[in-house]
Amino acid sequence: MNFTKDTVSVVIGGTSGIGKAVAAALEDRPGTVHVASRSEGLDITDETSVIQYFDALDLIDHVVITAGSAAPGGPISDVNTAAAKEAFNVKYWGSVTVAKHAISKIRLGGSITLTSGFLSRRTVPDTFVKTAMNAALEASAKLMAKEWAPIRVNVISPGLTDTEAYSDMTKTSRERMLAYAAASLPAGKVGTVEDLASGYLFAIDNTFVTGSIIDIDGGSLLN
Ligand SMILES: NC(=O)c1ccc[n+]([C@@H]2O[C@H](COP(=O)([O-])OP(=O)(O)OC[C@H]3O[C@@H](n4cnc5c(N)ncnc54)[C@H](OP(=O)(O)O)[C@@H]3O)[C@@H](O)[C@H]2O)c1
Repeated sequence: MNFTKDTVSVVIGGTSGIGKAVAAALEDRPGTVHVASRSEGLDITDETSVIQYFDALDLIDHVVITAGSAAPGGPISDVNTAAAKEAFNVKYWGSVTVAKHAISKIRLGGSITLTSGFLSRRTVPDTFVKTAMNAALEASAKLMAKEWAPIRVNVISPGLTDTEAYSDMTKTSRERMLAYAAASLPAGKVGTVEDLASGYLFAIDNTFVTGSIIDIDGGSLLN
């Protein structure tokens, strides 16, 4: 860790779930943490807003992007193309737009950490849209890491993590889903937001890590 009172971090998606835990962990360190999301006035699907957001900031050190979206499920042959494009628009294009406009503001020694998800490399029927947008993000991050070196770019790939993302489910079905996942995962548990936050801190702190996809998924890819 090389944080000082002048270190500036930005967490896009930091108002909920994993991003909120990353912001809280960064707030325990010296420096400034900016948190943004739609409820804070930034919609990452709006490129003009993203440009204005970074224009309003001075130089920054670390950018974390956890903003994500629901995505339609079901067989590929039945996919709702409009809903799939909307999901891509938030998670894939939103993340790329943030990275694209953040890069010119990032000081030497800084980093960008994106977020994918275990379905990027796990073949699960009816999850085509999540698989495709997370895989696209992982592939794009490697190109960012090469093009923008020595600024480091990494991706955290979470497994099932208990967050507000599942707050639309009934209590019973959410608990059933979490219990089933915990029983089937090699780690014997689902993720907590703290489990995930420690991975983002690793990507920020370890100056030898770039272009990496860091799986924090309880062993999802082993199943
Ligand atoms: N939780 C899991 O099991 C899991 C598993 C695999 C991958 N992931 C990935 O991990 C990331 C974080 O997930 P989470 O569970 O922490 O989700 P979450 O609790 O729903 O948080 C999502 C965050 O993204 C922000 N956001 C959504 N749309 C946005 C937009 N258009 N512009 C700006 N901000 C936006 C939300 O704030 P506003 O509503 O205020 O905009 C919120 O702060 C996501 O990319 C998700 O796909 C999660």
